Amino acid sequence: MQSQSKLSHLMKRGTDLLGSETAIMCGAMSWVSERNLVSAISNAGGFGVIACGAMTPDLLDTEIAETKKLTSKPFGVNLITMHPDLMALIAVCGKHEVTHVVLAGGLPPKGSLEAIKATGAKVICFAPALSLAKKFLRSGVDAIVIEGMEAGGHIGPVSTSVLAQEILPELAKEVPIFVAGGIARGSAIAGYLEMGASGVQLGTRFVCAHESIAHPNFKKAFIRGNARDAITSVQVDARLPVIPVRALKNKGTEEFTKKQIEVAKLLDAGEIEMGEAQLQIEHFWAGALRKAVIDGDVENGSVMAGQSVGMVKAEESVAEIVKSLTDEAEAALAR
Ligand SMILES: Cc1cc2nc3c(=O)[nH]c(=O)nc-3n(C[C@H](O)[C@H](O)[C@H](O)COP(=O)(O)O)c2cc1C
Repeated sequence: MQSQSKLSHLMKRGTDLLGSETAIMCGAMSWVSERNLVSAISNAGGFGVIACGAMTPDLLDTEIAETKKLTSKPFGVNLITMHPDLMALIAVCGKHEVTHVVLAGGLPPKGSLEAIKATGAKVICFAPALSLAKKFLRSGVDAIVIEGMEAGGHIGPVSTSVLAQEILPELAKEVPIFVAGGIARGSAIAGYLEMGASGVQLGTRFVCAHESIAHPNFKKAFIRGNARDAITSVQVDARLPVIPVRALKNKGTEEFTKKQIEVAKLLDAGEIEMGEAQLQIEHFWAGALRKAVIDGDVENGSVMAGQSVGMVKAEESVAEIVKSLTDEAEAALAR
């Protein structure tokens, strides 16, 4: 009982900010984090986040409305800063009085933070470095996620443990910070909370939830996968700075290398501009992830997964996952 109150105490700033029972966020995962998983996470006491990804404003409008039918608990919407319709997507969030907007994918364009704040929503930003975290603080963001390179999907170059040691002591008193990347056990949650985090964000651990609509093949690949199978993509051309992606090694990973060579050749031949080249590469990922998550083609698609995939051993309900994480965190704090 005492340890439970210690967990709640350490998470208090996180739960106050999110309005959830526990400060465990399920990070937005394109194609996976839709109405079913998001509502299940929030209904289980965590905090679900819709992945807007490349959705149009109309699709996001429907997704938010449908999620609201499945939960009365708070949830967030993750928007990618380089989405061409970012301002329209913010307006859709405003229309539905979405309480939390998570901005991913680099520096928010001018006016976007203000536009989100004007809807009354809280803004949460990803900070891949201390300097950027400080900049976000000055711009008035309400919370920060620091995500290490152990995570699944697009990643930065620094590990979670280093980011946590660099950023938490400096900024944890000033703003709630959520730690992400490589977390699959409650003991790790307890550790980051004791270092000053207000909460955590997990992705990989929730992919195989019963409530996740990921294709059975995608879930099987996760259950079979080991930490060392979740590798990062390689960049083949200095002119094409691709953001590394962590995914399970398969034919798709090799295809990505080939795609980069192909695009670099088009650049050499002057057949496409740099912007178009980078866009082609991003589109490759979006399509490849859909192929794996929705169609179940885990050979040719992109099976984005974090290094914690080796600790995903079975399909469980979201409530079971949240309970085991909080039980483990409580036990660790009691020790
Ligand atoms: C399949 C998959 C898709 C993801 N898609 C997105 C996304 O669209 N936007 C985003 O901000 N993060 C995305 N992420 C990152 C997660 O939101 C989360 O931060 C990350 O999974 C946490 O690290 P972990 O995988 O080690 O738990 C994705 C992760 C995975 C595994």
